Amino acid sequence: MMNKQTSLMASAYKTLEEAIIYYQDQPVGTLAARDRTVPNLNYDQCFTRDFAVSALVFLMQGKTDIVRNFLKLTLILQNHERQLDCFKPGTGLMPASFKIEVKGGKELVVPDFGEHAIARVTPVDSCFWWLLLLRAYVKVTGDLELAHSPKFQEGIQQILDLCLRTRFDLFPTLLVPDGSFMVDRRMGVYGYPLEIQVLFYAALRTAGELLLPKGESKNYLEATIERISQLAYHVRNYYWLDLIRLNEIYRYQVEQFGQSVANWLNIYPESIPEWLTEWLPAESGYLVGNLGPARMDFRFFTQGNLMAVLTSLADERQANGIMTLIEQRWSDLVGQMPMKICFPALEGRDWETATGWDRKNLPWSYHNAGSWPVLLWLLAAVAQKMGRSELAQKAVMMVQNQLPQDGWPEYYDGRQGRLIGREARKFQTWSIAGYLLAQTLLDDPSHLELISFDDQPVVLTCALAPKPLEGYAEIQITD
Ligand code: GLC
Repeated sequence: MMNKQTSLMASAYKTLEEAIIYYQDQPVGTLAARDRTVPNLNYDQCFTRDFAVSALVFLMQGKTDIVRNFLKLTLILQNHERQLDCFKPGTGLMPASFKIEVKGGKELVVPDFGEHAIARVTPVDSCFWWLLLLRAYVKVTGDLELAHSPKFQEGIQQILDLCLRTRFDLFPTLLVPDGSFMVDRRMGVYGYPLEIQVLFYAALRTAGELLLPKGESKNYLEATIERISQLAYHVRNYYWLDLIRLNEIYRYQVEQFGQSVANWLNIYPESIPEWLTEWLPAESGYLVGNLGPARMDFRFFTQGNLMAVLTSLADERQANGIMTLIEQRWSDLVGQMPMKICFPALEGRDWETATGWDRKNLPWSYHNAGSWPVLLWLLAAVAQKMGRSELAQKAVMMVQNQLPQDGWPEYYDGRQGRLIGREARKFQTWSIAGYLLAQTLLDDPSHLELISFDDQPVVLTCALAPKPLEGYAEIQITD
């Protein structure tokens, strides 16, 4: 007789399998959702970020074919030509999603790089998830040959080309448009959102492991290793917020000009939101949601913080601080449905300005502090990594009956996450995969190795803008 847990898992796994899509009779991905009661929009496509969660479940089950097929197919979809045409996806970009269409009896793979997506958002995160999956695939199968093949090496190089290229700013972080990751709507997450920086870091660490130290790849490898340190230094020092740091910011001098100034981004203390000062427990901390010129977004973004722990971008002390925050602010961050995508919600005039009056992103709903079951796996992974598996156990126990009963909703609404999201899809694949992944990690923590990174010492001592080039003053203007 199967015990309750096993039968819950078996039925969830069956539901996950029903979402698999095929191309030329081969499994290549999973649909985002299978809710026949509402219009499909693009939920009948395979999203790269959504598939990453399913893929990890498949890998942990030893079902590696689907992941290999996905990696190969999306690599072909990646644009390899240097583009000067603004209507074509940039070199290296990976699709947000793809679907299989049958035309004239032939199967076609149709990618979307954001050109069809609502509000035309750019999927910056897709290439990072692709790299993370490649690493996990190699770890499970030992198939380094695939990663070392010329096509895959070129694919990695092109992702790096896209990210390491010098741009309009002088920061080690990546400047991206609004809604370019899991939050794929306007939500004030343009600029330097934490989640992109953490995924970028994980992607760099992956490239560092998988690039061959010879030929073309060697230059990329050197640039990658340098950037890993610069990015880690920057995020650990400037995104980190605890009570000590909050006190510093509270007493900041402003309008400081020049190189070595404390408030180099000109953050005004008045921008510290009222909710924060009473909310932040003394022994805790977190990485802020965004950091740029004169801007610190103090919201807590869950995926960014949890991924920072998993990838060791957060150092040991910071990782413990994040765990303490989750534990002590459980009701706000986890509530009845693990867990909120961010905290707190934008309300009133802030909601109007940041979202453009988006009715799907109302306060405490969807991306605006709604609760997403998919995040359960990250909570479980991080709790395991930090030796706090009882927290993960508590979260899984809380929802394991409810999620299938509710039909695996995409997200929940309300401050405690007690209402099925008003516009949430049912049979949302990553809600199913998120639960399966969480439970699988609890049952066998050795799987953590597929997605976590060890701490790596940061060698750099200063990540601020480089000193002015020598010789500036000697420039001669000649004919
Ligand atoms: C929504 C989510 C996005 C997800 C997609 C498919 O647009 O915001 O993160 O990839 O649905 O599930």
